[in-house]
Amino acid sequence: MAGTDQFVETVKAGYQFKGASVKIGVGMLDGKAVPGADVNLSLKMMNRHGLIAGATGTGKTKTLQTISEFLSDAGVPVMLMDIKGDLSGLAAAGAQNDKIKQRYEVLELDYQPKAFPVEFLSLSNEKGVRLRATVSEFGPILISKILDLNETQSSLVAVIFKYADDQKLPLVGLKDLIKLLQYISDEGKAEIEKSYGKISTSSTGIILRKVIELQGQGADLFFDEPSFEVADLMRTTSDGKGMINILRVTDIQDRPKLFSTFMLQMLDELYASSPEQGDLDLPRLVLFIDEAHLLFQEATNALEEKIETVIKLIRSKGIGIFFCTQNPQDVPAPILSQLGLKVQHALRAFTANDRKAIKTAAENFPETSYYKTDDLLTQMGIGEALVTMLNEKGIPTPLVHTLLCSPRSRMDILSPAEIDQVVSSSKLVAKYANVVDEKSAYEILTEKLNTAAGAPAPAEPKAQKKEDGGFFSNPIVKSAARTAAVTITGYITRSIMGALGLGGRRKK
Ligand SMILES: Nc1ncnc2c1ncn2[C@@H]1O[C@H](COP(=O)(O)OP(=O)(O)O)[C@@H](O)[C@H]1O
Ligand SMILES: [Mg+2]
Repeated sequence: MAGTDQFVETVKAGYQFKGASVKIGVGMLDGKAVPGADVNLSLKMMNRHGLIAGATGTGKTKTLQTISEFLSDAGVPVMLMDIKGDLSGLAAAGAQNDKIKQRYEVLELDYQPKAFPVEFLSLSNEKGVRLRATVSEFGPILISKILDLNETQSSLVAVIFKYADDQKLPLVGLKDLIKLLQYISDEGKAEIEKSYGKISTSSTGIILRKVIELQGQGADLFFDEPSFEVADLMRTTSDGKGMINILRVTDIQDRPKLFSTFMLQMLDELYASSPEQGDLDLPRLVLFIDEAHLLFQEATNALEEKIETVIKLIRSKGIGIFFCTQNPQDVPAPILSQLGLKVQHALRAFTANDRKAIKTAAENFPETSYYKTDDLLTQMGIGEALVTMLNEKGIPTPLVHTLLCSPRSRMDILSPAEIDQVVSSSKLVAKYANVVDEKSAYEILTEKLNTAAGAPAPAEPKAQKKEDGGFFSNPIVKSAARTAAVTITGYITRSIMGALGLGGRRKK
């Protein structure tokens, strides 16, 4: 084991960056914090993604909270997937207590309680900005992936989207897709087959069943209009602080498919709508996915590959993605190998499997002469972690057992009244509050069938946006941005995911 002075030198040399950086903790040797061994985080390298892992209660969520605070301070917007609902405290200042006082003395830092600018978002009925997307925006490729369709079924979905496009049948909600599937396997079959080739009724039946299954997971709440503009995630406050967007998904954690569906669409949308960036001093957005095993647990191989592709490419757009999970092995190996920052909190060794996982985790870290990594992995205290990251040359920094800072915001959750207050002072909530129920495929096809059957024409649909120039003619800024992205990056963008190429078009 090498000496303390040498340790300080190693850490200092390894964790000094030219660009913006923040002190996230101090190095520890033989279980004790070593003054001067400052562990800094390079903010510039936050687009190289990362992993925050560790057993329950070891401090993953607090680490995520702390890093988000530093990013917000530096003017970088953040998005957090709050699966357990324990991140709302970011909106309130923390409180000093003995433990924190002691920790900050050892860290040689001043503890300054602080509230951060927070926006709450929701995929369903939680309070906050409602996130929605239309089936068309998803596009045939992503819809097929989500439904886990085979090649034949997927190409049928592509035909269906093409038909809807040609016939100007807007696919907004799942009910539109269901109606269209029913139509083409029945009354509309002959008509479609004339122009698009044979339609297999058994395939449409399977697709229909899977769409209904997705609907059963509550996806109707999500597939609707108005759809969310991802540019709204990239806001800063008037004094230049990055907005912390907290997506509260406590009410859908038992519906992993809806969650992974949403995540993929958002990544796709972020990718497609963000311009290619050169070497940025700071990332444009950093995303944290807490309890990330939920994202992968129901993912098919195809879906995993898509996530991998997006992760590889999205960093050139200045977007960083961080996974928080109990075990590094919850994240598929090809994705794990793309993650630059590793904050590994303690792991527990209860079973033979646990011990194997610890060995694997230890082997995946850079070699060190200061620690016995596998032993240390089970011995670290709460709010401590093994840290390594990529330096500005893209080389891993030395592995350091780190005593981490504590969040300056509240470590506990907000009360319902406090949440109401944040939501009511939001400028975005109103923008996305009400569903716009415009005429879509469902109504158009129902009308068509009624007319064919000689029934009286149904009453005019509720919304009249079509007449006042809304539905087809309303040029949406986002659509322009997306079109630009497609043109610039050409076929690379197209090949990524469903929202480009064949499907996923913004309304024109
Ligand atoms: N950096 C830290 N500083 C001070 N206390 C911490 C820190 N990290 C964790 N803790 C304590 O440990 C508890 C559990 O941390 P948490 O981040 O919720 O764990 P996990 O997400 O890994 O389950 C926190 O409520 C807090 O009391
Ligand atoms: Mg947690």
